[in-house]
Amino acid sequence: MGFLIIFSVFSLFASFASATNVVDFCVADLHYPVTPAGYPCRNVTSLTADDFVFSGLSTPGNISIPFDSAIILANDKTFPALNGLGLSMARADIAVGGSVPLHSHRVSELLLMAEGTIIAGFIGSNNVAYYRTLNKGDIMIFPHTLLHFQVNIGKSPALAFASFNSPSPGFQATTPSLAANDLPSDVVRRITLLDAAQIHKLKRIFGGTN
Ligand SMILES: *[C@@H]1O[C@H](CO)[C@@H](O)[C@H](O)[C@H]1NC(C)=O
Ligand SMILES: *[C@@H]1O[C@H](CO)[C@@H](O)[C@H](O)[C@H]1NC(C)=O
Repeated sequence: MGFLIIFSVFSLFASFASATNVVDFCVADLHYPVTPAGYPCRNVTSLTADDFVFSGLSTPGNISIPFDSAIILANDKTFPALNGLGLSMARADIAVGGSVPLHSHRVSELLLMAEGTIIAGFIGSNNVAYYRTLNKGDIMIFPHTLLHFQVNIGKSPALAFASFNSPSPGFQATTPSLAANDLPSDVVRRITLLDAAQIHKLKRIFGGTN
């Protein structure tokens, strides 16, 4: 009888321990498709401290045209330990004269300047442009869903780190979104008032058709 009680208490603690692990974190199992609630969890017994460390933000990305910048994401796909925890990070390297083009996310972004000088800003739904020069150590908040941008106005490469209140913040850049697809040029012209030559130029740059 005494043995049975002790055994039951032990198994109770054992099941509390594993249940606690499951609610504390849920490292994504990328073998399964993502759902609106994130990825399924990897088996806790297969995890090590390495699963909770990501070194991908330690080196710059490859600067790419046409905006002369590089973004590296630490999100639920690249850093699966973020799954279900409601946050992520990114590294932005912006070459001299380059920019992170006008874009938006589903969630808010907090940007921390690490090197260089940029103009950063967002456009409110009241169409007011809130923009300013940022230097090393400055942080700026870009409220969820609003269009925003960063432009390197300094004489050296700029480096910034951003955090987001989602493990999967999404990224939609305005000009590529308009021009990198088969939306007919005439429709683009009528919904933007851009002229035809400009639309053809943008479609050429971003690989769009029609
Ligand atoms: C997790 O892995 C352990 C050890 O391989 C195994 O005993 C256990 O059944 C697994 N749990 C789940 C939920 O798959
Ligand atoms: C940068 O480009 C090199 C050469 O193409 C490639 O090996 C490397 O993985 C790239 N780095 C990133 C962060 O994409």
